[in-house]
Order: sequence, then C-alpha cells, then structure tokens
Amino acid sequence: MHREITKGVYYVGVDDHHTELFENLWKIPFGVSYNSYLIVDEKIAVVDTVKGPWADEWLNNIKEIVDPSKIDYIILNHMEPDHTGSLPDITAIAPNAIIIYTPFASKMRYSFYDVPNPEKTVADLEELSLGSKTLKFVHAKFLHWPETMMTYIVEDEVLLTCDAFGAFGALNGKHFDDEIKMELVEKESWRYVSAIITSYFKFVQAGIQKVKDLGIGIKFIAPSHGPIYRKDPMWIVQKYAEWSSPELEKYCTIVYGTMYGFTHRAAMTLKKELTELGVEVRLHNVSYSDMSKVIADSVRAGVLAIGTPTYDAFPYPKVWGFVNEVEGKRFPKRPIALFGTYGWGGGGVKKLKEQLERCNYEVMEPVVRVRGKAREEEKGQLKELANAIADVLK
Ligand SMILES: Cc1cc2nc3c(=O)[nH]c(=O)nc-3n(C[C@H](O)[C@H](O)[C@H](O)COP(=O)(O)O)c2cc1C
Ligand SMILES: [Fe+2]
Ligand SMILES: [Fe+2]
Repeated sequence: MHREITKGVYYVGVDDHHTELFENLWKIPFGVSYNSYLIVDEKIAVVDTVKGPWADEWLNNIKEIVDPSKIDYIILNHMEPDHTGSLPDITAIAPNAIIIYTPFASKMRYSFYDVPNPEKTVADLEELSLGSKTLKFVHAKFLHWPETMMTYIVEDEVLLTCDAFGAFGALNGKHFDDEIKMELVEKESWRYVSAIITSYFKFVQAGIQKVKDLGIGIKFIAPSHGPIYRKDPMWIVQKYAEWSSPELEKYCTIVYGTMYGFTHRAAMTLKKELTELGVEVRLHNVSYSDMSKVIADSVRAGVLAIGTPTYDAFPYPKVWGFVNEVEGKRFPKRPIALFGTYGWGGGGVKKLKEQLERCNYEVMEPVVRVRGKAREEEKGQLKELANAIADVLK
C-alpha cells in the first residue's frame, strides 16, 4: 500500500516483520520498515529501493500510482542492500532509467550489482529538475556509509534523509509521527542509532550542521527506516543531535557475564554500593540482554563498569564481544571500571584492561580481581571502586 506525503510525493516502502535480527545482529521485535519514495512530475523518480525479498510488494506499491517501466530516475541515497536489494528487479522493468547517486556509490554499484542502466553521478548540492519539482542532492558522508547522500525536494520542503533519522519498528500503515506512539519511536530510534551509527557520531553532528547551514525549509523529514516526521520534523533532528553529542550522562552501566554466579555476585555488590551512594545504575547480563540493548544503555553512560569471569585464560566470550563493540563502535571516551573473577591463574580482566588501554580508555582504579566468591577484602575493593565511580559522576 502506498501513501501520499504531499502532492506528487508518495511513500512506497514496505514493512519487514520477518527478519529477526537486523544486520543478523540486532533484535527487531517490532520489525523494521524499508522506506522508498516515489516522486511523480513531468519526470518520475523513485528514491531508494527495498531489501531484495520485498521487491514484489514494493513494485506493487509503485504500480498503484504509475507503471514502473515509466520511471525516469532511480535515485540511490545509499548502497546498503536494505535499500538497493531490489535494484535488479526495477532495472529489469526500467532498463533505461538513469541511476543517480554519488561518485562513490557508483563504484559500489559495479561491485554489488550487474545491471545495465545508465548512470549520472551528482556533486554535492547539485540539482535536478523533474518539471515542476526540483531535487537537490546533499552528500552525507558516513550517514551511514561513505557514499551516502540525502535528497531534498525543494518546492515541497521534503528531506529524504536515508539512514539518518531512522528508527527500528515497522509502520503498520501508520507512516507519520502524528499517528504513532512517540515513546516507542524514541526507544526504537535510540536502539537503532546506538547499534548502527555509534561509530559515526562525529558525522551525525557534521551532517546536522551541514543541513542547518543550508538554511532550507523542512516540512518533512523522511528517512529510510521508521516514521516520516511532519508534525515536528525537528524533534528527531534534535534527538539525534543530543544522542551523538560527546557529552555523556550521569549514570553507571554495569555489563557483566557469568557462568556460575561468582561474577554476578560481584556485579550485584558493586550495584548495591553505587545505589547507596545515590548513583543511577543500569545493569546487563550479556547472556540475557540483546546486545543492542546493552549498547543502547552503555554508549552514553558516564562510567561503564565491565565484569568478566576468566574463561580458558581469556575474558568470558560474550563480555569480550561487548568490549570489541566498545572498540569497534568507537564509544566516546569515558572512565571504564573493571572487575572480574577467576579460579586459578586468571587473565580475563588483564586482557580487557590491555585492550581498553590500547584504545585510549582510562581504566579506573582499583581494578578488582576476585578469586571465586568475594570475601570482605574484595568487597572492600568493590566499595572503593563504587566511591571512585560516584566521584566521576558527581
Ligand atoms: C569453562 C571454564 C573455564 C575457565 N577457565 C579459567 C582459566 O583459564 N583461568 C582461571 O583462573 N579460571 C578459569 N575458570 C574459573 C572461573 O573463571 C571462575 O570460577 C570464576 O569465578 C567463574 O565466574 P562465574 O561464576 O561468574 O562464572 C574457568 C571456569 C570455567 C567454567
Ligand atoms: Fe545503512
Ligand atoms: Fe538502512
């Protein structure tokens, strides 16, 4: 089903209620949408496609409005296959449609797809007339990949932002911010941002500044996942600006793993001490919380506390996986507290400390190592660590 956004501009995207893990990594219990937009003027343009298995549904949405073989321009804001997966299907129907994208995206097109269509690469801020409507292409490096751009429909003041300002959650026929519960949108957009875009926070800040500097009117923010903002388009822009800002929040998140409960007990002791000091604590056992939730609660934590048992002389694999996310997603710098338990030679905490310090994170003192069950002395060290964390968050 399509939906008109404004005269001649249509939503033709699809809902995905089938995929369990986005990127095969992050749980999406509410599904996700792949948004695509059709612009009908003297010339017809479609902006972004959808993930491959949804090609037929997408083409049917387009057919409700125009014959897809009449499409003149296929505009690709981003080459990731959740947005280009149906390129082979549309180009089979419209082999003469011109593919429009950034020069960087052109290189990716030839390594990803064998499709015959002609292309036109566009410079930053280049314009293209469709007749009565003008498109302006705004390069948006690393939102989410290096080749990404946004497409602005000048006369209608619609900004098609691709992954930027996106959210998890299928739309279920409710396409606009004034039709959806915003509490859920806020949670699912933050989970999307922290899982997908944390590595590129600097580019989010730069992208927002760039759009502000253009001084363009914006009546609609229409991303490639999640709702279209028409009631309050700046709401999501402001959220993204806050979320990507280097200023962190005043709580401590404890992320730990445990096989038999010793590390769990140490984590609970630390939590109790922190709570008594009035520190807000968020706690995640890596074996039970989806990694997207662990990351969502960690990226902006003023202090991160990580606890691991030693597992075959290494950190517990799932905790290590989390620390690799801290490194790989380039979590903003903040002090990190470490604690762990071991049975004989240890090594788990030591390896985490080495890795974090190599990545220039400050590892707080004391680093607490407990042999099995924490005794009075080690409980004292956890209390000392709690005091140090509370001092940082003051
Ligand atoms: C599969 C397995 C491997 C372990 N490997 C080590 C090791 O290499 N070095 C060590 O000091 N302790 C090792 N231990 C002991 C645990 O690190 C120790 O008992 C720890 O307190 C367990 O914490 P937990 O109860 O939170 O799982 C191992 C335990 C298990 C079950
Ligand atoms: Fe993407
Ligand atoms: Fe995407």
